[in-house]
Amino acid sequence: MRIGVPLETRPGETRVAATPETVKKLIGQGHSVLMQKGAGVQASQPDSAYEAVGATIGSAADAFGAEIVLKVRAPEAAELKQIQSGSVLIGMLDPFDNDNIAAMAAQGVTAFSLEAAPRTTRAQSMDVLSSQANIAGYKAVMIAANEYQRFMPMLMTAAGTVKAARVLILGAGVAGLQAIATAKRLGAVIEASDVRPAAKEQIESLGGKFVDVPYETDEEREIAKGVGGYARPMPEAWMKRQATLVAERAQQADIVITTALIPGRKPPVLLHSDTVANMKPGSIVIDIAAGKGENGSGNCPLTQADKIVEVNGVKIVGYTNLASMVAADASALYARNLIDFMKLIVDKDAKLVIPAADDIVTACLMCRDGQAVRKN
Ligand code: NAI
Repeated sequence: MRIGVPLETRPGETRVAATPETVKKLIGQGHSVLMQKGAGVQASQPDSAYEAVGATIGSAADAFGAEIVLKVRAPEAAELKQIQSGSVLIGMLDPFDNDNIAAMAAQGVTAFSLEAAPRTTRAQSMDVLSSQANIAGYKAVMIAANEYQRFMPMLMTAAGTVKAARVLILGAGVAGLQAIATAKRLGAVIEASDVRPAAKEQIESLGGKFVDVPYETDEEREIAKGVGGYARPMPEAWMKRQATLVAERAQQADIVITTALIPGRKPPVLLHSDTVANMKPGSIVIDIAAGKGENGSGNCPLTQADKIVEVNGVKIVGYTNLASMVAADASALYARNLIDFMKLIVDKDAKLVIPAADDIVTACLMCRDGQAVRKN
């Protein structure tokens, strides 16, 4: 089949949906690949690297005109219009954006959004949320270390002792666990919290201390288990007790990294404004949920999307696309997720065969034959 890979055009998006490694594999499977000119440049992949493995370089219209279009982010309206009716679009298309799903359906596109894949063992190699959140967790610590005006590790020098940084991580899913591991490697002392009971063991296995907000009712215990591995919004009373504990722990912390998300909803507010007001000057907050909350905030109401703001000497970093700041590796992992998914919808003869009863394919299918399939 003819596969097209356009240049990503959303502001700040530097990733690319195919790397020379994956293009080589796709061509080996019998496909042809057309890369839009410059598509990989910001991810450290020049056009010549794609040409060397057999890709053709062309225009945006050429890339969007292919039978299968591989994207990182959902196409803008003008880009979507260039995709042929009946073509397949695969990317991180935001499965909760009903307007976008309707627009893709109206264009006659068969669209797969990989963020909707189930969190099962078979789906792991195509789990874009994990591959990109892992990078975000790592980069959050790198940015924190960069903004923080002190050392991360404890040091004993001739000029005296330097204390280790205390890092508080709120939300210990894929991003939070990677943030714990990365901060630990830098020598920080770590505490972390999550609503899911399974998180305790995972935090402790990485050398962090679990900040426990005990459940007081069966309802709290039940909701905390989540659905499909994801968190659900916790009752008000639990959130209040968590806020009190977080306020106490944040006063002791030098760096707070928040990563809590609830799919299809606004992220929970975990670091309240009055908590930030009581933090030590020079402390750093990295809000990985930035941009997803009210008015571009995240887990902290003071966060501003894609900005660093300073409140009472506390710097709050609201970058919304941390994975894009590690564009080469983020693209490498994402591109591998994509070709693993393609194995489910393309047969040995490089022909499109969309199975009717594959749970991963069904979960990722947003629209087909002009109809929206996904129900939010
Ligand atoms: P996510 O990105 O949706 O959320 C991040 C974290 O925030 C989660 O751990 C969530 O429990 C936590 N959170 C939500 N509300 C909170 C609150 N009020 N206070 C504190 N923390 C809160 O989650 P992510 O990282 O995508 O992982 C979701 C689950 O899926 C995890 O259990 C993860 O281990 C699991 N998973 C399973 C996979 C598999 O079996 N194939 C692959 C990847 C993840």
